[in-house]
Amino acid sequence: TLIQHLPADMPKTIIVSNRLPVKVTKQDDAYQLSPSEGGLATGLGSIYKQDDNLWIGWPGIEITDKRDQHMVTEDLKELSLLPVFLTQSEINKYYEGFSNEVLWPVFHYYVSTYAHYSQANWESYQLVNQKFCDAVLEVANPGDTIWVHDYQLLLLPKLIRDARPDVSIGFFQHIPFPSDEMFRLIPWRSELLEGILGADLIGYHTFDDVRHFLSAVSRLLPVQVSANVITLGERVVVVESFPMGIDDKKYGDLSQQENVKTEAELIKETFRGQKLILSIDRLDYSKGILQRLQALEILLENHPELVTKITLYMIVVPSRDQVPQYKELRDNIDKKVGNINGRYRTLEWSPIQYFYKSLPIETLSALYSSADVCLITPMRDGMNLVSKEYVASRVHNDGVLILSEMAGSSKELIDAVIVNPNNIQEVSRAIVRAINMPRAEQSRRMILMRQNVSKFNIGHWVKIFMDRLNEVKQMQRSMQTR
Ligand code: F6P
Repeated sequence: TLIQHLPADMPKTIIVSNRLPVKVTKQDDAYQLSPSEGGLATGLGSIYKQDDNLWIGWPGIEITDKRDQHMVTEDLKELSLLPVFLTQSEINKYYEGFSNEVLWPVFHYYVSTYAHYSQANWESYQLVNQKFCDAVLEVANPGDTIWVHDYQLLLLPKLIRDARPDVSIGFFQHIPFPSDEMFRLIPWRSELLEGILGADLIGYHTFDDVRHFLSAVSRLLPVQVSANVITLGERVVVVESFPMGIDDKKYGDLSQQENVKTEAELIKETFRGQKLILSIDRLDYSKGILQRLQALEILLENHPELVTKITLYMIVVPSRDQVPQYKELRDNIDKKVGNINGRYRTLEWSPIQYFYKSLPIETLSALYSSADVCLITPMRDGMNLVSKEYVASRVHNDGVLILSEMAGSSKELIDAVIVNPNNIQEVSRAIVRAINMPRAEQSRRMILMRQNVSKFNIGHWVKIFMDRLNEVKQMQRSMQTR
C-alpha cells in the first residue's frame, strides 16, 4: 500500500474527499490522468503535495478490472494519491442519487424542486462512506491528522473516530450549510449531523454556515451547544468559519507567462472594440447561468447602442451530466443561448460565445487577464474560487468583478460590484455600470480585492485550519487530564 512510501513513525496528514484532484479517463484502452474540476480540487490541488501528505478519493471513473485498478493505483501513488474505486451502482446511488440529488439541492435551497429521497441511495451513501473509512484505516497511524472534505463524506468523521480514537479529525464543508428549516427536512438529518460531529474541528466558509450548522445541531441532537463549542459527553467539538483562499501567486505568475500573454493578446485582438464579459462555472443550477443569460437579454433590449459592443464569453464546464436536473439545465442553456444569439447576432458578431467544455489553465488565465468584466452570479455558492482567480490574475489592477451576494466570496470581496442574482434588472444594470466604470475606480476596487486574495490565500487557509485543529486537540487533552 501507499504507506510503504512514507516513514511509518512520521505523523502525516491524510486528505480525504470524494474526488481526487486528478481524474482518470480512458481513451483507446489507455488510462490518462488530468486535473479535476471544482473548487476543492483546484484549491487544494496545488499544495497537498507539500510535507508528505496523502490524498484519498475516487478517481472519477468506474474501473472494475483488478489489473487495471492495480495499474491506476501505481500511477496515482507517484502523485501521493490513493484511489477508492466505486462501482457503477455506487456512482449512481451514493454520488448521483444521494450526494447530488439530496444533499446538494437541499444545501443550496432547491429542496422542493430537486430533492429526491430514496432509501436505497441513503444505504449506498452509508456503505460508500464506510468504504472510504476502510481506505483511511489502511494507511492511518496513531497521531496522524485526517482532513475530511465535503458533503459526500458527512458520515466519515464518526466512522473514523469510532475505529481510531487516536487520530485528529478535521472536517471542512465546501458548500453552504442551509438554514435549519431546510436541513431538518432530510429524513436522515440526525445521522448526518452525528457523522459530522465525529470530527474535532468542523469548518465552513462563512459565519452564516457555522450559525446554521450550530442551530441544526442544537435543535436536532441532545447535545450542549455553547457559542461555537459543542459538548458531547466527554468530547468537545469546535465549529468555525475558515474562508478558503487560492494560490494567488500561481494565477499572477501564469498571467505573465509568454504563451499566456500571446493568447491574451489574440483574445483582445479578436474582441477589439468590444467589452469582453467573462463567465466560468461548472454546469449547475445553483450557478444562476440561465438568470445571467436573462440579464444579458434585458440589457440588449434596453441598450441597443451596446449591440455589437459587448460579448459574453461563457464557459460551462461539464459536470454531473448523468443527473437528470443537470441534463435538463444543459438543454435549457443551449436553447437560451441559441435564442439570444439568433435574435441579436450580426454577420460579424454574436452576443454570446458559449463553450461547454473544460479549458486548460493557460487559456483560463489568458481569459482572466483579457476580460474587462468577470460576471459571477450564483444563486447560492459555498465560496466561489473563480471570483478570486479573476482578481489574482489582474496584475495591472484593472477589470471589474460583478459578484453575487449569495457567493461566500462576497463576504470578503466587498469591493466587487455586488448584486442579488434574483434581481435580473439589477444584474443587467451592474453590467452597464461595469463596462462604463472609470479606470481609477476599477483600480481602487481591484487593489483592495487583490490585497485580500493575496493575504488570505490557500497557504493561510490550510495553516489556520491546521493550527486550530492542533489547539482543539490540546484543549481536549488538557480536559482529559483534569
Ligand atoms: O467544490 C465543491 C464541489 O462540490 C466538490 O466537492 C466537488 O468535487 C466539486 O464541487 C465538483 O463536483 P463533482 O466532484 O461532483 O464533479
